[in-house]
Amino acid sequence: TEGGTLYDRIGPERLHDLLTRFYAHVRATPDLAAIFPGDWDTTLEKQEAFMTGFTGGPPLYHERYGHPRLRARHLPFPVTPSRARLWLACMRRALDDTLGIDRDTAAELYAALTRVATHMVNTPEPTP
Ligand code: HEM
Repeated sequence: TEGGTLYDRIGPERLHDLLTRFYAHVRATPDLAAIFPGDWDTTLEKQEAFMTGFTGGPPLYHERYGHPRLRARHLPFPVTPSRARLWLACMRRALDDTLGIDRDTAAELYAALTRVATHMVNTPEPTP
């Protein structure tokens, strides 16, 4: 459907589908999966709540967990530039796999997530 917020265009079911696919890709990416706590149900629930508000839907994350302070909440996890690229690659694949998200909506969401992902980098690339 045209117009409205990203949330209106994607809807809660497809958002859930998108994030389920996204974390399947994350889990299958060893260098990325390594820094996650391993409680994937909790990780998915928090991200789904956050993305609901981020895309213009109800502020579920705020209601459940308070202000996101996303950069601060990522500081315990070493987010390197290469992990940010892997994170975005997983999202790109999930967007391509999720039926019913039109190209403009996918491009808009991906662009917004690229900006946030870049901001989450908190650790330099390890020197080999
Ligand atoms: C939490 C990694 C980018 C939103 C986390 C956690 C990790 C992580 C390891 C902890 C998971 C948990 O506590 O269950 C990364 C990496 C990124 C990235 C490697 C690459 C740039 C993003 C982006 C967003 C985001 C772009 C938003 C669009 C969140 C949220 C949480 C979270 C909402 C839960 C925070 C909390 O309540 O503890 N992330 N993240 N992350 N991430 Fe990311």
